[in-house]
Amino acid sequence: MISREIKLPPKHIYPLDDWKIIQKKFAPQYLAQDETVFAIGNGYLGFRGNHEEGTPVEQRGTFINGFHEQWPIRYGESAYGFAKTGQTMLNVTDSKVIRLYVDDEPFYLPTADLKSYERVLDMKAGALHRDILWQTASGKRVSIKSTRIVSMERRHVAAISYEVKVLNAPAKLILSSKLRCPSDNGNNNEGNKDPRKSPAFEPDVFIPKVNEVKDQRVFLGHEVRTSKMTLSCGVDHVIETENNYSFESECHEDSAKIVYSVKAEKGVAFRLIKYMVYHTSRSAPVIELCGRTGRTLTSVVNEGFDYIVKGQQRFMDDFWTRSDIEATIHKDRRTQQCLRFNLFHILQASARVEGTGIGAKGLTGEAYEGHYFWDTEVYVMPFLIYTAPSVARNLLRFRYSLLDKARKRAKEVNQKGALFPWRTITGDEASAYYAAGTAQYHINADIMYALRKYVEVTGDEEFLFDYGAEMLIETARLWADLGFYSLNGKEEFHIHGVTGPDEYTAIVNNNAFTNMMARENLRYAVESLELMQKKRPEGFKALAHDTDLQPEEIDEWRKAAKHMYIPYDEEAGIHPQDDGFLKKEIWDFENTPTDKYPLLLNYHPLVIYRFQVIKQADVVMAMFLLGHEFSWEQKKRNYDYYDPLTTGDSSLSASVYSILALELDYLDRALELIRYAAWMDLADVGGNVKDGAHIASMGGTWMTVVYGLAGMRDYGGRISFNPKSLPHVEEVRFPLTVRGQMFEVNIGKDSVKYSLKKGDGLTIYHGDREIKLSKDKPH
Ligand code: BGC
Repeated sequence: MISREIKLPPKHIYPLDDWKIIQKKFAPQYLAQDETVFAIGNGYLGFRGNHEEGTPVEQRGTFINGFHEQWPIRYGESAYGFAKTGQTMLNVTDSKVIRLYVDDEPFYLPTADLKSYERVLDMKAGALHRDILWQTASGKRVSIKSTRIVSMERRHVAAISYEVKVLNAPAKLILSSKLRCPSDNGNNNEGNKDPRKSPAFEPDVFIPKVNEVKDQRVFLGHEVRTSKMTLSCGVDHVIETENNYSFESECHEDSAKIVYSVKAEKGVAFRLIKYMVYHTSRSAPVIELCGRTGRTLTSVVNEGFDYIVKGQQRFMDDFWTRSDIEATIHKDRRTQQCLRFNLFHILQASARVEGTGIGAKGLTGEAYEGHYFWDTEVYVMPFLIYTAPSVARNLLRFRYSLLDKARKRAKEVNQKGALFPWRTITGDEASAYYAAGTAQYHINADIMYALRKYVEVTGDEEFLFDYGAEMLIETARLWADLGFYSLNGKEEFHIHGVTGPDEYTAIVNNNAFTNMMARENLRYAVESLELMQKKRPEGFKALAHDTDLQPEEIDEWRKAAKHMYIPYDEEAGIHPQDDGFLKKEIWDFENTPTDKYPLLLNYHPLVIYRFQVIKQADVVMAMFLLGHEFSWEQKKRNYDYYDPLTTGDSSLSASVYSILALELDYLDRALELIRYAAWMDLADVGGNVKDGAHIASMGGTWMTVVYGLAGMRDYGGRISFNPKSLPHVEEVRFPLTVRGQMFEVNIGKDSVKYSLKKGDGLTIYHGDREIKLSKDKPH
């Protein structure tokens, strides 16, 4: 795989610290990137790391998961069954802004004379702090300290504490606390040049419905023009000071402000606490949301800022107990910092997903329009299943809630069963480029793969019977209908006209990954329904009735799985990515200048499709997810063949390649790839962190440690470890939760220790050796 050079930011940008991302100097050249790096959120509500004063800003960002506008996709040349409705997550009312003036001089970071500056993302506490000492032109020394939190415990709530103190003289302060509903949604994609970014909307996407101010409390309520989603944002303020002050307020349709005028005494602080509450709905009227917002505000104001801080700490302590990874690789604390940073951002993207999925960028940016892809099920779910199973369950239930739409979509594309959308917010297919969108039928199997892992690791059979089984029936139906028995006289089940994960190869016959995952989907459907017949016969009967399931269908799925054709080239001893892949010309990597990557921004898709050139793990992905289906030698030959063809133009490859490299004893390469994956966001390896965090890649880094360094394999619920002794890996330690019990794996230089931390007993395997973990007895 072609690795890009990892250029770490200069030391003062994010100096080493195990638990914090620190910036010691205001760095305008990192403004956009920092807005992503310092973003905070809880999976429902997310703020980009914009500075409190509102400017300078690259991309203002306040996002609510799933809160979107929809629009008719206009095709130059349309065709039957094309996706009809675009969906784009909106940038909602910005409540973060607090402007500051000292003796009428505005505080503006780029020009301010800063005597000290520090910005800290405290990943242990779940808070963003900034501490500045500014000297005004007239020599007044102004201390500005702020803390920003998006509450994990209360998903609708965020708060900012903003404290100003003039150290050496009295001064007149103005603090203007603002609220603004943005009219410039999706304005970051000039000329739609980058397909990964959001389209722009007309300024009138938000219809103002409520604007109200009472004392220091303000509400703005809006309805979205076409999706009809409703939003209410309310803020309230509490002042703590010994200084004299007064305030005035203003409220308009799309903006509001409370302006504080303060006679600041020398050395006496003025602290403004801004409580921000968001409520959204697909159906409730704005006025009703404002009522809810008011009630939430009253309770948080009564509880106070410290209560939010303490609640956040409680939540974070619990999170790190369940999820932390300690890893010393190359005696380098940087990888440790990056790993925690990645886990922290996954938390921020997922903690409070209730009734939604996880966007490709979480809530850190507009890129990929807030859409849910296979990223969630394949890259993020393993981490969640093993550390926060209830969140994993919510995500699977969300997919279940989209099943009817998936049934409808299958009909639209002339198929039986259900077809989940390649990218979506509402459950409707939102991909306007079917070749790399709808054609990725593998999404069905990816979701079912995650379901299986969830059920096996948690033991939650109830979920399988209540929700999973129905999804399995409909997805299996799709595969059975999509594939066919080949006409070459052999009893081979083929699947034609699909796109696998590698988006540099489209619409092919028998993509190996898709066929293997479809087979897995069919098998799991058969097994689960047999289990259900035994364990929940009444439930099975009702389900069969509701879904009109015929007994011969199950036989048909069993047969299709048995005869599934998996392309294999005897001569080369490898699995071709698809039927035609090996016949293509190999891309001229040698003569492709580095500035032509990612290829997708520099070559027409038709050019790319003509060559053996890979955007992301495809056969290698199959070797990871279904590793037990390949021999070690096959894995090696496949890896050797595909690694040099892989551009790494997608951030989704490095983690998976590193896991295979470890298995194949390519240890140096593996460590290089682990580093590459771990540093993806903090070192901006792909050059687009400014557009949002790579949540799937972040999930991948957890997998590089657990499946890679510790060699965990969990197929069929049998959990085994096979850690490699690596010269540069000093220590790796992490907890896992399995069937409600938590144990820790601790890999040292010459030993591995497994200890049960919660629960009564659990069987795991070290290689082939059975280990019965029990309380008080580490192995
Ligand atoms: C990748 C997809 C991925 C999407 C969102 C694309 O570049 O090719 O596999 O789902 O990004 O992360």
